[in-house]
Amino acid sequence: MSMIRLRGVHKTFLEGNRRHVVLDGTNLEIEAGQTVALLGRSGSGKSTLLNMVSGIDVPDAGEVIVCNENIACLGESARTLFRRHHVGFVFQFFNLIPTLTVLENLLLPVELAGKLNNVARERAADLLARVGLADRAASYPEQLSGGEQQRVAVARAVIHRPSVLLADEPTGNLDEAASSAVLDLFAELVSASDVTLLMVTHSREIAGRCSRVLELRDGVAHELQVQGT
Ligand SMILES: Nc1ncnc2c1ncn2[C@@H]1O[C@H](COP(=O)(O)OP(=O)(O)OP(=O)(O)O)[C@@H](O)[C@H]1O
Ligand SMILES: [Mg+2]
Repeated sequence: MSMIRLRGVHKTFLEGNRRHVVLDGTNLEIEAGQTVALLGRSGSGKSTLLNMVSGIDVPDAGEVIVCNENIACLGESARTLFRRHHVGFVFQFFNLIPTLTVLENLLLPVELAGKLNNVARERAADLLARVGLADRAASYPEQLSGGEQQRVAVARAVIHRPSVLLADEPTGNLDEAASSAVLDLFAELVSASDVTLLMVTHSREIAGRCSRVLELRDGVAHELQVQGT
């Protein structure tokens, strides 16, 4: 089953009088349960593409079908609801809310979706244990290391059991050991929940851990051969 499908996606940004074509008829098809790495030089449009898939932004033309819904046709509030139910997002700079504790950060997506109940609280406790931070529930983000914050962010991204997990350079700000722990966590969560993962990375080594590797070049996604590990 196709989980993410882009058909003829165009996205142009205006900078003064200059038109900057970022996505130029991009096609992409990702099956449910695949883990896909997205490579491409800085400015090639990787974050722009992720924003299309999550419905944060919409294309100028083309279809963006995620979980069988063409989200390019939805209004902003419908896209927000869509995102809250179907998408998890992990950012390079963690994006935890500094005034909320680790547990409150973790529960925020379920609270926003109006599903904060005992089942969600149990899942939060279970996820915190799985990311190795069971004893840090009451800590604030600034009291955690970067790697610990990112493990909380990964747990937060999956707490509502999204069908699609998007990550934009999730290890770009971490050292090798912390990076490796975060990638192990992604692998564990993906295999436990058969979520579909689309991850932007600059690292070919990280890309090698994914089932498919794409490179965004000149606004088009090219399939690369996965190196055998
Ligand atoms: N809101 C915006 N307004 C104007 N230009 C934008 C906007 N968002 C992105 N761009 C431009 O679109 C191009 C692609 O940006 P994008 O952030 O998708 O690149 P990227 O591949 O994620 O790069 P990086 O690896 O540096 O994160 C860039 O040239 C950027 O300047
Ligand atoms: Mg980017």
